[in-house]
Amino acid sequence: IVALDFPDGARARDFVAGLQPGSCRLKVGKELFTREGPALVRWLTEQGFEVFLDLKFHDIPNTVARACEAAAALGVWMVNVHASGGSKMMVAAREALDQVGGRRPLLIAVTVLTSMGSEDLRELGLEVEAQEQVSRLAALAKTSGLDGVVCSPREAGVLRAQMGPNFRLVTPGVRPKGASRDDQARVLTPGDAVRSGSDYLVIGRPITQAADPVAALAAVNADIEAAIGR
Ligand code: C5P
Repeated sequence: IVALDFPDGARARDFVAGLQPGSCRLKVGKELFTREGPALVRWLTEQGFEVFLDLKFHDIPNTVARACEAAAALGVWMVNVHASGGSKMMVAAREALDQVGGRRPLLIAVTVLTSMGSEDLRELGLEVEAQEQVSRLAALAKTSGLDGVVCSPREAGVLRAQMGPNFRLVTPGVRPKGASRDDQARVLTPGDAVRSGSDYLVIGRPITQAADPVAALAAVNADIEAAIGR
């Protein structure tokens, strides 16, 4: 999943024009969506791309359910919510998507933002280690009927063991061998992330900022295919 972290739609469209829908999916996050709105998401789906709408909804159950419906109406492939919105919110989102005709988007939870450690949780009144909170929220997402969680590739092994084989693990923090880490503190290569149990890798700058993005994407796909033994 290539993260389209561009400051405006023109640059995002230029970049996407060089890609084939069969070679990747695309992630639209809060910055690009807030600038360009649903029109850009519609355009991407019309180009044949599967889109992960990464807006991390977190609100009262009814509002999140209606927002998920709106995302489904845009034709996105995956949408996400904050697990800390609670099981009522997640169940409402899931039920709203179940009412959608046709293929419903995958519904994924964010557990603890990877920018937050145990100190940050304490500040919020949560006397718990970050990893324990990740596991707790992932389990809550699963019992609420969600399809999976976003997690660090370093957490993927533990979560795969805890959540079983059918729970989707979506992991940012992936860097091809030799690529700059940018601001990602703990990274795995694409192959190692897949071997740790990740189902979908979210990769931005190593592809979007590459001199040759198509070649960078092809190298990532080759690493993934080697890891899954294709
Ligand atoms: O450029 P890079 O590969 O670091 O981009 C990773 C993408 O994944 C960005 O869109 C970033 O916002 C997102 N992300 C992340 N870490 C998280 C959740 C999302 O890097 N824990």
